[in-house]
Amino acid sequence: MSVNRKVLTLDEFTIQQLRDFPNATGELSNLLRDIGLAAKRVNVEVNKAGLVDILGDAGTTNVQGEDVKKLDVFANNQFMGVLRHGISCAGIGSEELDDIVIFDDDVSNNSKYVCLFDPLDGSGNIDVNVSIGTIFGVYRRISEKGKPCTKEDFLQQGIKQVAAGYIIYGSSTMMVYATRRGANGFTLDPSIGEFTLSHPDIKCPENGKIYSVNHGNFFLYEEGVKMYIDSCQKRNKTNGGPYTQRYIGSMVSDVHRNLIKGGIFMYPGTIDRPNGKLRLLYECNPFAFIIEVAGGKATDGKQRILDIQPESLHQRSPFFIGSRNMMAELETHLKKKNK
Ligand code: AHG
Repeated sequence: MSVNRKVLTLDEFTIQQLRDFPNATGELSNLLRDIGLAAKRVNVEVNKAGLVDILGDAGTTNVQGEDVKKLDVFANNQFMGVLRHGISCAGIGSEELDDIVIFDDDVSNNSKYVCLFDPLDGSGNIDVNVSIGTIFGVYRRISEKGKPCTKEDFLQQGIKQVAAGYIIYGSSTMMVYATRRGANGFTLDPSIGEFTLSHPDIKCPENGKIYSVNHGNFFLYEEGVKMYIDSCQKRNKTNGGPYTQRYIGSMVSDVHRNLIKGGIFMYPGTIDRPNGKLRLLYECNPFAFIIEVAGGKATDGKQRILDIQPESLHQRSPFFIGSRNMMAELETHLKKKNK
């Protein structure tokens, strides 16, 4: 009997994808399902953050020297927990943790993947009810199977990701993930507690009218960036300018909007912080992978993000990401000034 139902759940979708690869082990589908489960748990807590005593600093600082909010800790434990208990992940790296966590048990040592994540990005926005998110990247481990994973598994170029995604806890909660086959978005249906396919085969528009940058830092940016921002504000018949400026201060929300509507997001280096603020492994690489699968581009101003060979877990990188033609316009300005 065929079931007449239009909407696929996240699990149904990943299993459907798996059916196209008869030799696939299903480990990646399992891992994505585990992440979906953790996301649902975090979503519940984020939604009641205004009601219960979960707000406020946990009283510690993370390895970046920033205040850790209680929800950060909760989210970190949820994602780490599902991946540890699952069968697909040999270890994790988290923006909240100083070092990688190697699961090191019989099942995990035989698992194919490692996962890097930022459990709650934009957490500075929690207590003012602004959307926040989780970001993750999945890599096939390069260490020998049967043994514990190693740091080298985590220090791979972004191009080696087999999947990357994010969850946005917003007016509705969405999970977007990309594999080389495409980027797809799932909206959480609270009535059944399942992520359901709402944005199939996401393509980032080639042009956009939104630029997202922290204008407060304008005078700290390099000349090329300033010139590009200037040009965003000018009337321009060729590119449809002036553009609209939108900056939430929660990258998941800013980049999600630009991915869907077209636009560019920038977190450039500044005079005092030449590598900017964002972390290559937890924030830049996953988004760079997703945007490229969707047809957009991501660079550090000089090279493709996905080509950068990471040297340390928590390294930062300037970050420019968005619609193909807006990125090309930015690059023209950066090149002019770098000559
Ligand atoms: P945090 O998780 O510490 O709140 O940082 C959020 C990140 C990113 O999501 C956002 O785009 C950026 O920091 C905002 O930083 P600025 O306030 O410096 O613009």
